[in-house]
Amino acid sequence: MQAPSPVRVGVLGAGNVGGALARLLVDDTAAIEARTGLRLELARLAVRDLSRRRPLALPPGCLTDDAGSVVTDSGVDIVVEAIGGVEPARTLILEALKAGKPVVTANKELLADAGAELFEAAAAAGVDLLFEAAVAGAIPLIRPLRESLAGERITRIMGIVNGTTNYILTRMAEGGATYGDALSEAQELGYAERDPTADVEGFDAAAKAAILASIAFGQTVVAGDVHREGISAVTADDIAFAHRLGYVVKLLAIAEQDEPEGEVAVRVHPAMIPSTHPLAAVRDSFNAVFIEGDAVGELMLYGRGAGGRPTASAVLGDVLDAAHNLRAGGPGRAPALARSQVRPMPELTSQYYVTMEVEDRPGVLAAVAGAFAEEGVSIRSMEQVGLGDEARMVFITHTALERAMQQCLERLRRLDAVETVGGLIRVIEDD
Ligand code: NDP
Ligand code: HSE
Repeated sequence: MQAPSPVRVGVLGAGNVGGALARLLVDDTAAIEARTGLRLELARLAVRDLSRRRPLALPPGCLTDDAGSVVTDSGVDIVVEAIGGVEPARTLILEALKAGKPVVTANKELLADAGAELFEAAAAAGVDLLFEAAVAGAIPLIRPLRESLAGERITRIMGIVNGTTNYILTRMAEGGATYGDALSEAQELGYAERDPTADVEGFDAAAKAAILASIAFGQTVVAGDVHREGISAVTADDIAFAHRLGYVVKLLAIAEQDEPEGEVAVRVHPAMIPSTHPLAAVRDSFNAVFIEGDAVGELMLYGRGAGGRPTASAVLGDVLDAAHNLRAGGPGRAPALARSQVRPMPELTSQYYVTMEVEDRPGVLAAVAGAFAEEGVSIRSMEQVGLGDEARMVFITHTALERAMQQCLERLRRLDAVETVGGLIRVIEDD
């Protein structure tokens, strides 16, 4: 009997992710075929710089610096985009889809910017556009949301979706590392984006939050819809104070929808969560996503959120899925999304942790408490630490409207006795 012909894969990019995928395709061909019945072949591999040394034994003619030639190559059945960024990735994916080729991508930045355009192009071409690796690296998350939880009314998704920042916060909390040293370590370990600002200022997590919200709630949420704050203002004192009160500081991506088909609220910011919450135990570069739904209750998915090989595993799963579908002649699969209705951040509520340095003299506490009272923000607890002529005040509030809390901060900054108002960290309580 004749062996079935291989499914030929064209990979764009051979960095952390593309390089690890190429290695799996070259080294594990027989094992993948034994497990899945599909023989995958690395047909073409596009890079930017042909002169760079690559520890890969590639077939002759496979490597190219012309990514455009890969997406239109009749010898390529499926295209994997692992270049990153918006362009030329967007144009290359659109060309591949137009040529009738299924596409797999790990590119969260692109999907959170131009996802709707790409999904429409995939639907028009009737081919798959799969992106499991784009959110939380190796963790199966997009497929469970789209398939296993398709009938579930999801109310909230709360996740640690950036490995770099989780690594930094863990090292600061447990190893006493400085912010700068911990960031350098995360870069050396290959977790950080090329520009680590994307990680530490929350842009990467915001892109992932937009994709998660789009898939969970069926609306086109883009990165610009997501309220975003990073971890660069979080201090060792904040982390130590949180620890004393039984909290852990994490950068969270939170997407919520109160009413079916109603407004969604999507935000990324540092948060204090109780040390008993399942997300509090997620350390180092690991990611986890905590999902709450009407019928399913609570569930959590956990695993490696960054790194070439774990991410390549998720990409390979998508390639195999697309290959099976291609062989079966099934219709293409890409999400169909409604227009988004996004609730603005000032209309959300939370409890808050806020610190300030003040002059240590009579009447200051009354003035500070007055600012909270003027904005209707109720104080849950307060602690004062003497610092010579000054003092640090640390407040935790009861649940308040974001708009009121921001106005309260403005009021506090205008008080003569207040030297500085420190970072604001939202406090998440167990329901
Ligand atoms: P890298 O920067 O390590 O690799 C990018 C690759 O793309 C390089 O091989 C580069 O070539 C190639 N490239 C760049 N421009 C072009 C071009 N115009 N034509 C052809 N090739 C080009 O990125 P990563 O592998 O880390 O990330 C890839 C994607 O995966 C991104 O979207 C990222 O957000 C996503 N991702 C990454 C994760 C991670 O842990 N790293 C986890 C989850 C998703 P050359 O080698 O010649 O420079
Ligand atoms: N820089 C990202 C992170 C890579 O640290 O999570 C995975 O998307």
